[in-house]
Amino acid sequence: MAFRELRPEDLDRAASWLVDGGFRADRWRDDHTRSAVASDAGRVIAAGMIWTSRVHGDRYWVRIIVEPDRRRQGHGRAMLAHLSTLRPAELPFMARGFFDSDEMAFADGLGAHTIQVVPPARIATSSRTRLRALDSVVSAGGLTRATIEAANAETYEWVHAAWSPVGPGFESALNEDLWDELDPQATSVALDADGRILAMAMGYQDSSPPVVTAETVRIDQEGGERLVEACIRRTLDVYAERGVDEVEFDGHVTDPHFMPIWARLQPAGEWFRLVEVPAS
Ligand SMILES: CC(C)(COP(=O)(O)OP(=O)(O)OC[C@H]1O[C@@H](n2cnc3c(N)ncnc32)[C@H](O)[C@@H]1OP(=O)(O)O)[C@@H](O)C(=O)NCCC(=O)NCCS
Repeated sequence: MAFRELRPEDLDRAASWLVDGGFRADRWRDDHTRSAVASDAGRVIAAGMIWTSRVHGDRYWVRIIVEPDRRRQGHGRAMLAHLSTLRPAELPFMARGFFDSDEMAFADGLGAHTIQVVPPARIATSSRTRLRALDSVVSAGGLTRATIEAANAETYEWVHAAWSPVGPGFESALNEDLWDELDPQATSVALDADGRILAMAMGYQDSSPPVVTAETVRIDQEGGERLVEACIRRTLDVYAERGVDEVEFDGHVTDPHFMPIWARLQPAGEWFRLVEVPAS
């Protein structure tokens, strides 16, 4: 088996098992975005890709695919070892998947450990009656873009600090598409007496069903769980009024104010996890 860089022409003439993998040509963004193929007798039998997040940069995301008929013969393990040699920085790998998936079994076989768990995501808007409203929670529609982006960055930074810290200057990458994706009318904010945002439930309009994220702007927010509860209640009210039956929550089991509210809404779906895979 021979390794070489993944070229644009590999994608033009890719076999069906490789087409939908989201693979890109080697160094598509910079030196931290690398991709390779493995071939046997001149035929591509596996592809692999690593990249850093522009928000985090603490690990390389990794994706590997092996031709279905050639699995469980060590090609995936060999590709990971090759990708390890392409890393410009000595960072471990990171992958994610549903608990019972092949990719997680593969990651476990290569010595992975779990760094985060994401609960089932589907929430019926009818479940919102379990949550209480608050008068201090209003639509984000009247707030400026800069105010919302600043609150989003402050929230994101502490939520990820313990398990996948943000990198320097992360704010611009984090907020790059936010204004296009956010639904300000469905986004709910809890404000203090001076009009500062204490907590948010953000509704995103770029997906169906809509995605909802929620947390306090500061980790030590007094009454944070109650504020998040009311923000989510209002956001689900808006979606229910629009005839939306279901939304998807996006967060982590370690989110201290979001997770208890999430659990009360009896979500449906599969658990998934994020894992760190050691380089070899
Ligand atoms: C995941 C994938 C890349 C594994 O490739 P592979 O060539 O079959 O993996 P290897 O043969 O190198 O397996 C290495 C180890 O991972 C584990 N493993 C791999 N696939 C597994 C599976 N389906 N079930 C359980 N363990 C598995 C085993 O411990 C294995 O060692 P062993 O065969 O000595 O027991 C392949 O199944 C695939 O292409 N799946 C679809 C795409 C995908 O899910 N990619 C995500 C990867 S980041």
